[in-house]
Amino acid sequence: MSAQVEQSLEVIVLAAGKGTRMYSDLPKVLHELAGEPLLAHVLRCVKQLSPRAVHVVYGHGAEAVRSRFQSEKVNWILQSEQQGTGHAVKTALPSLHPDSKALIVYGDVPLADPVELSALTEAADAGKPALLTAKLDNPNGYGRVIRMENGSVRRIVEQKDAGSAELCITEVNTGFVAAKVSDLARWLERVDNCNAQKEYYLTDLIAVAANEGCAIADKQVLDAATVQGVNSKTDLALLERYYQRKRAGTYLQQGVTIIDPGRLDVRGEVVFGCDCVVDVNVVLQGPLQFGDGVYIEANSIIRRSTIGDHVHIKPHCVIEGAAIGPKAIIGPFARIRPGTKTADDVHIGNFVEVKNSALGSGTKVNHLSYVGDSTVGSGVNIGAGVITCNYDGKHKHQTQIGDNVFVGSDSQLIAPVKLGDGAIVGAGSTITHDVPADTLALGRAKQKLVKSRRRPQKKDSG
Ligand code: UD1
Ligand code: CA
Repeated sequence: MSAQVEQSLEVIVLAAGKGTRMYSDLPKVLHELAGEPLLAHVLRCVKQLSPRAVHVVYGHGAEAVRSRFQSEKVNWILQSEQQGTGHAVKTALPSLHPDSKALIVYGDVPLADPVELSALTEAADAGKPALLTAKLDNPNGYGRVIRMENGSVRRIVEQKDAGSAELCITEVNTGFVAAKVSDLARWLERVDNCNAQKEYYLTDLIAVAANEGCAIADKQVLDAATVQGVNSKTDLALLERYYQRKRAGTYLQQGVTIIDPGRLDVRGEVVFGCDCVVDVNVVLQGPLQFGDGVYIEANSIIRRSTIGDHVHIKPHCVIEGAAIGPKAIIGPFARIRPGTKTADDVHIGNFVEVKNSALGSGTKVNHLSYVGDSTVGSGVNIGAGVITCNYDGKHKHQTQIGDNVFVGSDSQLIAPVKLGDGAIVGAGSTITHDVPADTLALGRAKQKLVKSRRRPQKKDSG
């Protein structure tokens, strides 16, 4: 066998379990942490180790899991009956090269540190499995690490099989194990299911290897949260908070002002420029790019957008799939939907909805309006309560508004319709035909004045 194959690393991800303790129809590894399935975090982490192959053992909710990750370059291995973590690894082994090193990771442990996993893999050798352990204040639910008097690891006992003295041990099995593939195959042959759960435990291979006289290499993680597993909704919620605090901490270190790091949620890739300020209760979902000097006031949700320099997002806005140009003022209470592009200095005010529209430089839509499927020039002023009526019940139509147009309040622009440069629409108009440049359009009933009209009198009921 070539030296290259001998040293090559293959990863096995165990993701076949049901996740009974989640009380959910969704397979456990599809539950989301920071807006992404647990398994997505795990795959991203292990790929940083540049393994020769990643094998994912799947089974429960097979179709849902595979279709969610169909574009991932991994080798899928079906474990049709979930007979335990040892059985899962045994199912995977025939797909691995016997001389490779295998790193086994659990699909429900999403926040591992690739540097620590790399060191663990290094520590394993032929006839020498490496085990990652952690000291937990509350070890409840985890397998406990039993050491010999000389301090070396002897075996792991699962919580359900542990005696009361063993339950007091706070050093736990994190689930991360590295070993040579051919060793794993040999050891797993000897693992049985005579235990409280009638399962083939992966963890029993440690005792089997120790009985063979093998030394067990062990490493303890520094930050126990990175190896925390998700077995319940409580675990998921705690880990989400841990993750969010850590992310907020990273942004703080980069110079972002975060008014309360405990009240910011960041999902996916989010990049801030210099001198950005984020007030409380903001949810950011990437990919998101903020320019310099962006100020996000409280209670906004911003997804998949680019936000230019010195944009001010006032409270309670929802922005999605938009490209907002520099110096815009958005909100409060604005909704900006996908396909919106604004040039610089645009104002989109309270209770305004903009969808699939381009707004030119210096344009203002400040109150209670809907702008959809529109191209709006620069220097335009759209008054309060203006609606672009883009939908005829069957099709969507475009509204085109030239530069320096003024649209008076409470007007409806019935698309398809075009307002030329400098056009003025009188307040309360219903515009059904194009308006040429520099022309005033009035599309409203004329006001009548009737003199001395008396209000009807109530008849005497008596
Ligand atoms: C497991 C370990 C425990 C460790 C803990 C760390 C065993 C027996 N116990 O317990 O020592 O402290 O993780 O988080 O390994 N899976 C399969 N096929 C199966 C069974 C499980 O793919 O037949 C997958 C699950 O989808 C999950 C992972 O293996 O991703 C771990 O299974 P889980 O049932 O969560 O084990 P724990 O009880 O947490
Ligand atoms: Ca688990």
